[in-house]
Parts: sequence; C-alpha cells; structure tokens
Amino acid sequence: MGDDDGAGTLTVTDNRTGRSYELPLVHGAIRASDLRQITTGPDDRGLLSYDPGFLNTASCESAITYVDGERGILRYRGYPIEELAERATFLEVAYLLLNGELPDAAQLRDWTAEIVHHTFVHENVKKFIDGFHYDAHPMGIMVSTVAALSTFYPEAKDPVSSAVRRRQIVRLIAKMPTLAAFAYRHSAGLPYAYPDSDLSYTGNFLSMLQKRTDTRYRPNPVLEHALDVLFILHADHEQNCSTTTMRGVGSSHADPYSAMAAATAALYGPLHGGANEQVLRMLTTIGSVENIPDYIARVKRGEFRLMGFGHRVYKSLDPRARIIRRVAEEVFEVTGRNRLLDIAVELQRIALEDDYFLSHRLYPNVDFYSGIIYQAMGFPVDMFPVLFAIGRTPGWLAQWEEGILDPAQKISRPRQLYVGSGVRHLDAPETAVAS
Ligand code: ACO
Repeated sequence: MGDDDGAGTLTVTDNRTGRSYELPLVHGAIRASDLRQITTGPDDRGLLSYDPGFLNTASCESAITYVDGERGILRYRGYPIEELAERATFLEVAYLLLNGELPDAAQLRDWTAEIVHHTFVHENVKKFIDGFHYDAHPMGIMVSTVAALSTFYPEAKDPVSSAVRRRQIVRLIAKMPTLAAFAYRHSAGLPYAYPDSDLSYTGNFLSMLQKRTDTRYRPNPVLEHALDVLFILHADHEQNCSTTTMRGVGSSHADPYSAMAAATAALYGPLHGGANEQVLRMLTTIGSVENIPDYIARVKRGEFRLMGFGHRVYKSLDPRARIIRRVAEEVFEVTGRNRLLDIAVELQRIALEDDYFLSHRLYPNVDFYSGIIYQAMGFPVDMFPVLFAIGRTPGWLAQWEEGILDPAQKISRPRQLYVGSGVRHLDAPETAVAS
C-alpha cells in the first residue's frame, strides 16, 4: 500500500437533475461502478467514466510495486529499488515479487535449484525456432515460443490451482533466458548452447548466448553483475501496458504462457519495451554531438519523439535511469566507452535545459541508457526488448497471480461510449446490397 491510505466520501451533484450522491472513497478512489446510480431517468443506464489509455483509472488493488512518479520513487514490496539493485540478486528479487518477502538462505537455495532444474526446454522447441527466417526479430520469436510452451504443459489451463500456478511460474522464469538465447543463436547461425547449472541465472544466460568452442564458459563478473542489476530494474513496474495485458488475458483464465505471450507482444511496441531499441537507432541517426540541436528542434516541431524520454507516471527523473548511469560506468571499465554515451549525455543536458521538455515534464526513462550498456556488452539492437522481457517476467507473473487470487477481480471488459450510426436497415434503398 502507498503512503496515503485515504478513506472518506465524495459528494457529487448532478446538475441535470439537481440530485446529490455520496460516494465512498477507498484508498483515495471512488468505484466507477458507484457512478451507475447517477441517472436522469428510467431509460438512463447510469453514468460511465471515460478514460482512454487508463490515465486516471486504477484497475486493481496491488501490494507488489509502489511508484511515486512525482518524487521519483520505486519500491518492490516496500523495498527501495536502489537498495535492491545494490544488495540483492535478480533471483532474490523475483522471489520477493512473487512471495512478498526476500528469501532466507535455505529458501534461496531451494528456489535457485528449482529454477536451474527447469532451464531446459523440450527439444521440439528448437525445431520450432529453426522454422523462423534467419532475420526474424527475436521478439517475434519470443512471442511465438512463449505461447507455444502452453502446448507442452496442458495442465497450465487450471490457473485456479496454486500448485499448477507455481510450476508454470518457475518454468517461465527458468525458460525465458533459454528461449531468448536460442532466438539469438538462431539469428546468428550458431548452434544452440544448453544451460549450465553451475552458473548464476544471469551467468548461465550469458553462457547460452556467447559460448563458442570453450568447454566451460566463464562470464566476466562485472558484466554478469551489470546485467543482473538491469534485470532487477526491469522486474516490475505496476500497471504498465504489458502488465495490464498480462492481467487482462489472465482474467479470462487463459494459461499463463498465453497471457505472457500477449504481455511480451505488448512490450514489443516502440512506445513501451521497444523504446530501448529505438533509443539506440536514434543515437546512431544523430551521429554526433553537433547534430543534437537540429534533432531537438525537429522533436519540438512534432516530427518525432525523443525516444527514451517521457513516462506516463514519472514526471521527474526515473530512479532506474539514475542507477543505470552508474552501471554504465562499471560496464565501460570493462568494454571501453560506448561513443554513443557522449551523444546521450549531451542530449540529456540540452533537453533538460529546454523549455519544451521542462514544461512537458519529460525526463530520461529507464530505456534511455539501458541500450547503450547492452550495445557495449555486445548485444545486437533487436535483442534489447528481449532482455527487458526476461527481467519483467517475475513481475508479470506476480501481477498475474495477484489478479487470479483477488476476489474483486472479474474478466477484463471495459465499457465504451458508442458514437456510431443509429439503427439502419438493409432494405432501405440507399443501403441495398447486391445479392
Ligand atoms: N518526445 C517529445 N515529446 C513528447 C515525448 C517525447 N519522448 N513524450 C511525450 N511528449 C509530449 C507529447 O507530444 C505531448 O505533447 P502535447 O501535450 O504538446 O501534445 C505530451 O508530451 C504528453 O504526451 P503523451 O503521449 O500524452 O504522454 P503519455 O503519458 O501518453 O506517453 C510515453 C508516455 C508513451 C512514454 C511517451 O512519453 C513517449 O512516447 N515516450 C517515448 C517512448 C519511450 O521512451 N517509451 C518508453 C517508456 S518507459 C517504458 O515503457 C519502459
């Protein structure tokens, strides 16, 4: 729960009828369904609230992630993101998101063993990936293969069973890096590398990506740690577009593989998880620091957006962007400095002094620097959203499970304001159709 637990009532007067209504407030919100009682007469079905893009509508109660966009605060289960990024591992954070508490030593040992046990995918998944064209976008492969997993685990169709849910949660967290690495190796024309259970979650992922002829791949510890931190920063972000999709599909009691394929598809879009890929393309297009003023002028003319800037919730600096800047420096100690960083830093400096960006409250978001790190680590640009998807997996699953368990939740089904034609008939002369 957030800091403000507001209760009380709201009195609304309908100026059409002069009647007043007292609506209860819960956690500082009215229930949209309480508006239904506000009618002008017996034929009126009641007042609706209209909120395209859910700008001001809470779709659920959630105890997982707290975001205060005004103050730049992000907490998972109450823990500040800065502390988790500094002191926890991604698997600990995944456990925290799913269970509400950080694991003790024994719980972590069991959790890690469970995940490691499930990293392998059925051999047929390889054949499935083989069928994709050599230049298939890895996010397209991920969307399809995550959905395909549901056909391997028909038991997943019973999300009401907690044991069934838990098994699929472990499978998905364990198999996402394997699917991602296979998608990458397919596009690179490399043989698939199997998981190595002696490595950490992130170290194993790097091994499956980068292993060549070496019998034992050993990840660089700085890069392994940096990627683990990036996964933590992406692990959850309350009711964003892909999480809302996950909950929405889950609300029909579809299996979690189908729901997560839909969430991955939502993440793919350039306004959401695809933004990190677009930032890299944008920085490459800008090419050098001298071209920045002209580029910013074009953004202000509305020709295109400054990718990696702006956020629906954060109206100050995204706290994840601050942590990522620090991680970037650690990575560059190993890889050498990415020359695009200079363009990004200067772009940020100029944008943050510019009236357009200040007045629109546009600040760098998590994606502004993540791509620069991924590129320095050797990831191709189209793998960036895939990395985001691996990190977001525990968040999607925790939110999905919370939705399934919430007795207040129902199948997602918004209302609409119909603005189309009134009734018409096929036999009217002007609409006659040829038979
Ligand atoms: N560059 C330039 N102008 C922008 C930008 C931007 N990146 N983002 C918003 N604006 C402007 C809009 O043109 C609009 O201006 P107007 O009021 O003068 O018409 C105003 O700011 C509000 O924009 P909206 O689109 O209404 O804001 P919304 O909250 O719906 O969008 C979003 C948020 C999608 C993130 C948007 O800021 C954006 O497109 N950013 C670039 C893409 C990006 O970086 N996405 C990653 C988000 S983080 C994540 O998903 C992990």
